[in-house]
Amino acid sequence: MLNVVQISKRFGQIEAIKKVSFEVKPGEIYGLLGPNGAGKSTSIRCLSGLTVPDEGECLINGHSIHNEPIQAKKHLGLVPQDLAMYQDLSARENLQFWGRAYGLSGQVLKLRQQEVLEQVGLDKRAKEPVNNFSGGMKRRLNFACGIIHQPKALLLDEPTVGVDPQSREHLLSAIEDLKNQGTAVLYTTHYMQEAERLCDRVGIIDQGEIIAQGSVTELRKQMGEKDLITLEGQFSETDKAQLDHSEILEFTPQQIRLMTSNASSQLSEILARFDSQKVHQASVQQANLESLFIKLTGRELRD
Ligand SMILES: Nc1ncnc2c1ncn2[C@@H]1O[C@H](COP(=O)(O)OP(=O)(O)OP(=O)(O)O)[C@@H](O)[C@H]1O
Ligand SMILES: [Mg+2]
Repeated sequence: MLNVVQISKRFGQIEAIKKVSFEVKPGEIYGLLGPNGAGKSTSIRCLSGLTVPDEGECLINGHSIHNEPIQAKKHLGLVPQDLAMYQDLSARENLQFWGRAYGLSGQVLKLRQQEVLEQVGLDKRAKEPVNNFSGGMKRRLNFACGIIHQPKALLLDEPTVGVDPQSREHLLSAIEDLKNQGTAVLYTTHYMQEAERLCDRVGIIDQGEIIAQGSVTELRKQMGEKDLITLEGQFSETDKAQLDHSEILEFTPQQIRLMTSNASSQLSEILARFDSQKVHQASVQQANLESLFIKLTGRELRD
C-alpha cells in the first residue's frame, strides 16, 4: 500500500535522508524509529508530497505521489508532527474543514464527524473552540482530522508526543482498530515501548539511514541479542552441572541468571532440569529495541 523506494533528500549540507526504502502492507503497522533529526519527518513529508525527494520515489496504492498526486492522495491520511488545526474553530468545524478538503460532504461527512469524535473520545467537547483544549485533546483531534476520510494508508508523525497516559491509550487503541480494519499505518516515534506494542515491523533510522529493519523478533535475532532468565530458589553445585556453562551469567545458592536466545521457548526445558521444589520463581526479560539501538549506534536513542 505504501512503497518508499530509495529516497534521498538534502537540505544544503545536510543529508536528511539517504536511500531510505520500506513498504507497508494493508493491515500492517510499520514503525520508523529514531532519535531527533534522524529523518523521520522528512520521510513522511516526502511520502505525503509536501517535500520532493532529490532521488527515489514514493508510491501510495501503486500511484506516485509526485507524478499522480490526485490518485495517490485519495487513499492517504496524514497526521503531522505539528498540529494542523484552526484554534478558533470548534472540533466539529475542524473536522468539517478537513473532511471537505478530502472530498467528503453531506450526510456522509456528518456521520464521519460523529464517528471519529467518538473514536478519540471528544464527542462531548465537539462544540468548543480548539483553543480551550488541552495539549492531549488537540493531539487527539489532530489524529481525528487525518482519518476522517477513512484512508487506506495513514502516516502518523509522533502522534503521542506530549500526551497524557489516558489520551495516549485512546490514540493507541484507535490506531490498532484501524490496523485491524486493513489500514496500512506508518508510525514514527522515539518511544520504544510504543513501537514494541504497536508495530508489526520496525525500521531503525539514524542520521538519515535505515540501519536495521524487520519485526522486533527478527531484529533481536539479527543482533544476536540474548534474553535474560532469572531463577530464584535454592540451588547446589549439582544443579550448576545441569546447565550449559556458556550461558551462566551468575550462580549463587539463591539465584541463577542465564543468557540465552529465545528464552521464552526454552524456559520450560530449563525448568525441567531442576527438582520442582528448588525453583521458587522464574522470570524472562527480553532484549528490547532500546538495547538494539544502543548496540547498533553506540548511543542512547534520546540523544
Ligand atoms: N526544511 C528544512 N531545511 C533545512 N533542514 C531541514 C529541513 N527539514 C529537515 N531538515 C534537517 O533534516 C534532518 C532530519 O530532520 P527530520 O525533521 O526529518 O528529523 P526527525 O527524525 O523527524 O526528528 P524529530 O524526532 O526531532 O522530529 C535534520 O538535521 C533537520 O535539521
Ligand atoms: Mg520529526
